[in-house]
Amino acid sequence: MTYPITRIRADFPILAQKVKNQRGLTYLDSAASAQKPNTVIDCESEYYRQGYAAVHRGIYTLSREATTRMEDIRSQVASFIHAASANEIVFVTGATEGINLIANSWGRYNLRPGDNILITEMEHHANIVPWQMLAEKQEFSLRYIPLLPDGTLDITRLPELVDERTRLFAVTQISNVLGTLNPLTNLIIQIRALSDAVVLIDGAQGIVHQNVDVQALDCDFYVFSGHKLYAPSGIGILYAKQALLEAMPPWQGGGSMIQRVSLIDGTTFNDVPWRFEAGSPNSAGVMALGAAISYIEEVGLERIQAHENNLMKYTLEAFRQVPNLTLYGSENRIGIVAFNLGKHHAYDVGSFLDQYGIAIRTGHHCAMPLLAYFQVASMCRASFAMYTNREDIDRLVAGLIRVHRLLS
Ligand SMILES: Cc1ncc(COP(=O)(O)O)c(C=O)c1O
Repeated sequence: MTYPITRIRADFPILAQKVKNQRGLTYLDSAASAQKPNTVIDCESEYYRQGYAAVHRGIYTLSREATTRMEDIRSQVASFIHAASANEIVFVTGATEGINLIANSWGRYNLRPGDNILITEMEHHANIVPWQMLAEKQEFSLRYIPLLPDGTLDITRLPELVDERTRLFAVTQISNVLGTLNPLTNLIIQIRALSDAVVLIDGAQGIVHQNVDVQALDCDFYVFSGHKLYAPSGIGILYAKQALLEAMPPWQGGGSMIQRVSLIDGTTFNDVPWRFEAGSPNSAGVMALGAAISYIEEVGLERIQAHENNLMKYTLEAFRQVPNLTLYGSENRIGIVAFNLGKHHAYDVGSFLDQYGIAIRTGHHCAMPLLAYFQVASMCRASFAMYTNREDIDRLVAGLIRVHRLLS
């Protein structure tokens, strides 16, 4: 039986909260972090109440059971993104750590002076700064696929940007500011035809809106954060093709990532993926990530996507009522819409909306190069999740009309 979409809001306790105006919370900042359903909250608390122990290091029942559950969830994540094996799934703290891991392990050993890597002008800082930091040390260059005025990538520029020294292509699945959906399959085919570059997909925004099949995509790395996928913060996933992962050195040293440590002979490292999981892991986060994925699968990602797409159509139509609204980005957007209200600073708009119980994101959205392209210092962003409904949009539109009146 399919899960009734109308039941979804009741699964998220925070949405029932009364805020300042004594009406429900209109939460339109799910691209920053999604709210959590009861099943995720309960899973984490049940684990701490009944199943918690240090994992990977105990011979007693509680520890062994927690370890087995955690490793089962590794397999669950693998099948969620259609990886070939659970050995390709590394638990990290989030997309940011996943990209830093790739930079500091794969990047440190594979990028040399004279090499180049290709990213895009629409990346989140998490997919720019780690590469800039490494480039300073290792003297490779960064190239950027430029934006077009509608906020899509100018992929006609690929042939001139990619050459035999291009070692990595890193791109976001969906722009975190504009919601633009990038043509990943087409991009990857073109990159593969032009170079031997490894391909990294930043799935921080994509994973929650689209079915992901890393094998069909033929990407080498894929990263995402649990907290945008209805799971708690502090847990995320790095996927890497097994052969690639096996060829990569560890980046952090400590417990769990070793086979043997000797003061005389040094250290030998564990197999993948544990070689990349130094220290005590966030096992509660892993358990709750498993619960979040089960919940999403029960509702159905296709249905979630259809719901969010309908809501986007509704939003764009409703936005016509708002005077002086500038929209950014192309029609090809998923779950995220960026705008400004006349010449009013996004912070002012966001602060007024907050007075009415409406939460949107304002500012540079950790994507300053994209904002520089549009020659604005800040934008407002409304973003959806499976629990967002038309009432939220109606309240946003009414709020924006009111703010416009107040500030004009
Ligand atoms: C596209 C994109 N990449 C990376 C990140 C970083 O995610 P986190 O802060 O969860 O590590 C974000 C977060 O907003 C994002 O939107």
